[in-house]
Amino acid sequence: MSLPARSVDYVAELVRRASAVELDGKEYLVRARLAPLARAEGIRGRRAVEAYIDLLRERKDEAQQERVVEAMVTTETSWFRDGEPFAVVPTALLPTLPARAGGPRLWSAGCSTGQEPYSLAMVLLDAGVSTFSLLATDISSAVLERAQAGRYDALEVSRGLPRQARARYFRRADGGWRVRDEVRARVDFRRHNLLGGATSLPQTFDVVFLRHVLMYFDLPNRALVLGRVRERLAPGGFLVLGAAETPLGVDEAWERVPIRGTSIYQPIGGAR
Ligand SMILES: C[S@@+](CC[C@H](N)C(=O)[O-])C[C@H]1O[C@@H](n2cnc3c(N)ncnc32)[C@H](O)[C@@H]1O
Repeated sequence: MSLPARSVDYVAELVRRASAVELDGKEYLVRARLAPLARAEGIRGRRAVEAYIDLLRERKDEAQQERVVEAMVTTETSWFRDGEPFAVVPTALLPTLPARAGGPRLWSAGCSTGQEPYSLAMVLLDAGVSTFSLLATDISSAVLERAQAGRYDALEVSRGLPRQARARYFRRADGGWRVRDEVRARVDFRRHNLLGGATSLPQTFDVVFLRHVLMYFDLPNRALVLGRVRERLAPGGFLVLGAAETPLGVDEAWERVPIRGTSIYQPIGGAR
């Protein structure tokens, strides 16, 4: 049973305002992702999702709205996604940065269930970089909880995690795998909305991974977030985007760093 346009529009507006994610009228997505929330509220029947959205409008319950946003955002991820952007961190990016006490500072922004920051930690440890700080943030408490636990089932582990990395940095747990405590301890997970002021973050960063996040935003919100990230880059710092993502045509303050197979940028004339 299709949802009425007004129900889809209400959810799309709620999600856009809270996260910047555009649902582009994907009615089937709203229906599929909100059905479990409707069931959890004890709402059954062919019009359950529509009734659930009506309830949402009436109650304006913040916790419930948050659950809707978490259900609607795409959290698709994998280990060492696209390979090269991770490989070049220790070989091409870190060597250009000035040495600092505490080592390089990295930020995985929109880290989903943790595969991205843990892949970064593994690539650094493999390269013998043992002193670094690594912040991983996301808008969704649900994915952050999973990321922090560091538990992955066989299917999740099969998505891009090399056997050697699994053997070195994971142990078997609960029929799946768990990131070893010493690696989990290297990542500081926090809830952070990229639409909010980046100044709430504790420091500036040398390398920011902001991959497969901007692609879900409209142009004004992409520009807004790129501006906020620019404010948080340390001098000489790098922004690493998804392969198909670019600030060009969105925020002209960036220039591409020519490293084959990557979408890496620096602010023109250095960080602000
Ligand atoms: C498709 S996943 C990408 C995960 C990882 N960066 C990667 O490339 O595999 C996008 C993530 O961005 C998060 N996200 C969406 N809007 C956000 C916002 N406004 N602030 C922070 N995180 C957001 C989602 O919760 C989701 O976990």
